[in-house]
Amino acid sequence: MHPDIERIVFSQNQIHQRVSELGAALSAEYATPELRGAGVELVCVLKGAATFMSDLARAMTIPLEMDYMAVSSYGTGTTSSGVVTFQKDLSSDITGKHVIIAEDVIDTGLTLQRLLQVLAARNPASLEVVPLLRKDVPGQADIDCKMVGFECPNDFIVGYGLDYAERYRNLPYIGVLKPEAYQ
Ligand code: IMP
Ligand code: MG
Repeated sequence: MHPDIERIVFSQNQIHQRVSELGAALSAEYATPELRGAGVELVCVLKGAATFMSDLARAMTIPLEMDYMAVSSYGTGTTSSGVVTFQKDLSSDITGKHVIIAEDVIDTGLTLQRLLQVLAARNPASLEVVPLLRKDVPGQADIDCKMVGFECPNDFIVGYGLDYAERYRNLPYIGVLKPEAYQ
């Protein structure tokens, strides 16, 4: 285990297992000719969801496209600023496509709430959200998810794409940092 990690919340094996299940379930849901005909597009919310989406895409067996957008609601701290800024837009037109947003974690839910408004206005055929993690947070925005990887406690976590001040994204598991690692 990395010396800055206090405890592992989801192990590499648990994540692998769950992402495989999500990929299989999504492939089954989107396997109908109508859905496939219109095109399925996975949208990654950078940077946190990049690791999740690349594994999820490889666990899916239907034809699909992948695109990336960057938004941020966090500075380098550990609490949400509530202000969502768009830093990079999709390079594809999602009009008429079946869009699945892959997100790392729903915390306050403000980022996805805003993102869903923006993407819905482009008239996709359907728009769904699949977060790897959903935190148990009081007052969280109500986001209707197609599937959720794991429900998780309201702790600040890192690894498997999630960062603290841009570090720890490359840990293969998800864990809680030791308090001294925040200094
Ligand atoms: P929300 O808008 O509060 O739901 O938070 C959205 C974004 O904040 C997520 O996509 C993450 O990138 C980041 N975030 C929220 N909680 C954590 C955490 O525990 N560790 C690392 N990043 C987090
Ligand atoms: Mg982030």
